[in-house]
Amino acid sequence: MTELATATSQEIEFASRDRISTLQLERMQWSLMHAYTNVPHYRKAFDDAGVHPSDLKDLSDLAKFPFTTKADLRENYPFKMFAVPQDKVSRIHASSGTTGRPTVVGYTSNDLNNWADLIARSLSAGGVRSSDKVHVAYGYGLFTGGLGAHYGAERLGCTVIPMSGGMTERQIQLIEDFEPDAIMVTPSYMLTIVDAMIKKGIDPSKTSLRVGVFGAEPWTEQMRTELEQQLDMHAVDIYGLSEIMGPGVAMECVETKDGLHIWEDHFYPEIIDPVTGEVLPDGEEGELVFTSLTKEALPIIRYRTRDLTRLLPGTARSMRRMQKVTGRTDDMIILRGVNLFPTQIEELILTVPALAPQFQCVLERPGRMDTLTVRVEARPDAAISDHAAASSALQKLVKNKIGVTVEVNVLEPGGLERSIGKARRLIDQRPKD
Ligand code: DLL
Repeated sequence: MTELATATSQEIEFASRDRISTLQLERMQWSLMHAYTNVPHYRKAFDDAGVHPSDLKDLSDLAKFPFTTKADLRENYPFKMFAVPQDKVSRIHASSGTTGRPTVVGYTSNDLNNWADLIARSLSAGGVRSSDKVHVAYGYGLFTGGLGAHYGAERLGCTVIPMSGGMTERQIQLIEDFEPDAIMVTPSYMLTIVDAMIKKGIDPSKTSLRVGVFGAEPWTEQMRTELEQQLDMHAVDIYGLSEIMGPGVAMECVETKDGLHIWEDHFYPEIIDPVTGEVLPDGEEGELVFTSLTKEALPIIRYRTRDLTRLLPGTARSMRRMQKVTGRTDDMIILRGVNLFPTQIEELILTVPALAPQFQCVLERPGRMDTLTVRVEARPDAAISDHAAASSALQKLVKNKIGVTVEVNVLEPGGLERSIGKARRLIDQRPKD
């Protein structure tokens, strides 16, 4: 074992790149062998690709190994990707799976222990302190957000308020009465809570909240400004996915807010060209791929996340950063040959003073051509007479900055359904052919 394998989190976070790479190689060799030996899917996939775990002599050798996709997890539903016997599995989570079977993931007690440590590390990087009260408004249950956040905040030593998602009135009451210092919630649900506060005559900037730990969905720098101004607090980004662990795979540091440090001692990132699968150098944008380095119950090798980002060198910590996620390959809209993401629309909406960050992109195909309608709410203080001007301002911005023509419908405040978890930004109403 390298000395870093037993080092404290503090030491690892600031270790030299050489020391991190040495630890990664040792752990990756273990993880590949663990997967190959204990999961029939990996044994077959490696054999078919003509590779063996012993071929990994250097981190770059990972590129020889096959990818894992969501379809692989679905085909092995529910437990066939697990690498340990069932009596060693302490907990199960699952993704909601709007289409088809859910994706099932499992954790041993060591996995749960690492997860709690990594969330504690993330919270502390995000500016949460052990003396803080933390209001958890991510959903509890099969979703990894609530319980992941919960045990991590407890591990840091915080007082946890396990509120879960929904019941907005109750959220507000607890924020007022319990005076939490930090909140963990999707950014879109935070906006729902803010709107409801304003409706009740409560000034959101006057709450006790000092830090918001926002993730589970893409959100932009413009949304950070919006949340920080409305709530007079720090808004930091937390990233993760159930297949890799849950929240806490990567986290933004409050002192720099310049992208998310990937906890590379547990997860090895690569960026690939989503079409060719070729590994791209750091700095280039592509699809994020992860290999788990320590997971026992569900080792995962080269998992294609479908999230688009780029890798950047470390700043506040030695570990590499990923830029805020622009979107998922599945959320990419191709409109008359132009690629765009709902996050690009969010950025532009927030530059129009009369528009609120509540929006949806609706794709339709009335004839032979696809059309995109942006449905966006007006700010409560915007006069009705401003709606038409705001609509044409947004339409012009989209045309100039993205290069496509879209319809814009400006709705009354409250005109769109509110999210209580992950917001649904893209509604595809095109006929399925
Ligand atoms: O959303 C885990 C999580 C919970 C992360 C709470 C952060 C906070 P899944 O439901 O498996 O897990 O969804 C994972 O959500 O592949 C991304 O597309 C998206 N996602 C998660 N965090 C971010 C983020 C959780 N900070 C999928 N920025 C991922 C952008 C995010 N997208």
